[in-house]
Amino acid sequence: MDSLTEQDHFVTVEALARKEGQELAIPRGRLLVAACQSGSQLAEKVVKRYRALLNHMGSRESILDLLNIDKRFSDSETCVRLEEHVSGSDAFLFQAPFDPTREFSIDQNYMAFLIATRALREHGARHITGVMPYLAYARQDKPTKFTREPTTARLMADLSITAGLDRLIVWDPHCNQIRGFYGAMPVNMLESLTLFIHEFRNYKGRDDVIAVAPDAGASKFVTHFGRALNLTCAIASKYRPEPETVVISEIIGDFRRKRIAIILDDMISGGGTIDALIRKLVEEKNIQEIYLGVSHNLCVGKAYERLKALHQNFGLKQVIITNSIPQTKQFMLLPFVTVRCLSEFLVKTINRIHHERSVSQVFYRPGHERVLELDL
Ligand code: R5P
Repeated sequence: MDSLTEQDHFVTVEALARKEGQELAIPRGRLLVAACQSGSQLAEKVVKRYRALLNHMGSRESILDLLNIDKRFSDSETCVRLEEHVSGSDAFLFQAPFDPTREFSIDQNYMAFLIATRALREHGARHITGVMPYLAYARQDKPTKFTREPTTARLMADLSITAGLDRLIVWDPHCNQIRGFYGAMPVNMLESLTLFIHEFRNYKGRDDVIAVAPDAGASKFVTHFGRALNLTCAIASKYRPEPETVVISEIIGDFRRKRIAIILDDMISGGGTIDALIRKLVEEKNIQEIYLGVSHNLCVGKAYERLKALHQNFGLKQVIITNSIPQTKQFMLLPFVTVRCLSEFLVKTINRIHHERSVSQVFYRPGHERVLELDL
């Protein structure tokens, strides 16, 4: 048991030296936060918060930041330049491969990430951890039977390893098995359970509330959520007769006396899943209020119109999303949408990795009541 973490979620060399009699030494080298253009907004928030915590703890540790390190040449090639010495550093490289607020494509952003990784590697960074909260291509995790698609998620892992990456931090990836594509490389898959338990803590134990999984993929997650907050759970059966159409054939669960539904899902893409599910909950299960927690909002397709219509006509009261993907103004201005910043989680995770401490200890685990102190 890591006694220090039971009291302090943020670690400094001074605190370690005091509590464990260690020397003032940082095992992994100087802390560096680097970011490609699309990852810079989040990286900046993380650096600000990290520095504030160092300051609060009275630590002399420092953190070097190198933001917006990628440029495009006129022929569209990507070029990465590091303006500072990085040799021997413990580098955390931020990128948002999907960024609906900029003109760069996922492929350009991924390429920038790979080139930046290689730049850090060739210039002597001791450790390179990618921070990619939304892991693009994770949905292409298996070849389909009839249309001869490749396992593209595996290819992305191979490219990252070849570029020189030696650790990865992601937020609630579409499928957890993807971890195996990275072989022996540590991958920290931060799950959003801690966030949603915190967000919906006021509903704990209420017998008029039901937690709903939109499909089989979300059921395990919703079950953990339901157990943590002592709520009944339901699971919907979903299929897509064609790409943009979603049908919820049934919702399995005990809806007697239920008035409020909390839906949790990993992502909103076009919003078809949420649309079909909420309509069915209202029309067939007599649900009057709906709350939605989603890890990634892609800001694409009809999602904006659908959420607005669900809010106006189908009792959708609040949508909680994160900035794992840079959010467009359009979504951020919707009064019933709350965008939670991931910086608090990332600061704690980076701090724990930097000091070679357990990351999972600062996240919710079933059976452990002590969870991350959230200051969102
Ligand atoms: C599916 O497996 C995912 O968990 C989401 O439910 C899905 O990707 C959402 O897509 P859309 O918003 O287009 O229905």
